[in-house]
Amino acid sequence: MAKDKITSTIIKDMKHKGEKIVALTAWDYTSAKIVESAGVEIVLVGDSLSMTIRGDSNTLKITLEDMIYHTRMVSKACVRALVVADMPFMSFQVSAEQATMNAGRFLKEGDAHAVKIEGGAEMADTVKKVTAAGIPVMGHIGLTPQSIHLLGGFKVQGKAIERAKDLLADAKALEEAGAFSIVLECVPAPLATYITEKIDIPTISIGAGDGCDGQVQVTADVIGLKKGDVPKHAKKYVDLNQFMTEAVRQYADEVRNKVFPTKDHSFSASPELEDVINKGEI
Ligand code: KIV
Repeated sequence: MAKDKITSTIIKDMKHKGEKIVALTAWDYTSAKIVESAGVEIVLVGDSLSMTIRGDSNTLKITLEDMIYHTRMVSKACVRALVVADMPFMSFQVSAEQATMNAGRFLKEGDAHAVKIEGGAEMADTVKKVTAAGIPVMGHIGLTPQSIHLLGGFKVQGKAIERAKDLLADAKALEEAGAFSIVLECVPAPLATYITEKIDIPTISIGAGDGCDGQVQVTADVIGLKKGDVPKHAKKYVDLNQFMTEAVRQYADEVRNKVFPTKDHSFSASPELEDVINKGEI
């Protein structure tokens, strides 16, 4: 595990050293503190927070202002990890200039260290311009949730040979454009391994198997924040939803049954004040 303050160049070096890169998402100060204290290299302010935290059905609604707000809270918590901010839908697709301006806002107003941009070869020019402005860019190919309407839903990508070839070309184009790493989302594991071997920058898998240079997960899945099943590519390490629901139920029961609060949770008055209160002289 790299000990220094993590930079995009350290992330690239980790591939060459054969060290696995660990990334997790965060959405506010508290979640970022928890993730950072586990020693992850990358804290991603993913736009998936629109689904996991805000209750949206996809990632299309969240705005640039909202993402900057969440990024600022996360950055405040991160001392060592690299903070990567996800550029939301329509904050970068219009032009390379629009993307560069908005990427800059994540660094200026959100204190992020890098941005993530969904898309492959068609985004290469944009990645080049944002990188040229001094902003490290993480690419994101495979299942790109901002394009679900085009992709026909949250589906594994690259199963057909032609699409698999496209994904390899996308990865090469992003590397050529200057991306420091690429997220491969929901791609068959052998294809992800093949792509990883064909490029010189790290690949970060979410649902792309163990042959990638690193892994990223949505923290809400890992800690079981939401009720029910998590996606196939995720692993629920703890069922926090169950713990929290039980704790809240206990609290409600204790209030109704007059068990909480006790004297331990209350503030006493001085004998003089008690005397005045008891005499009704207030
Ligand atoms: O928004 C997000 O959390 C992401 C990860 C799934 C990579 O983009």
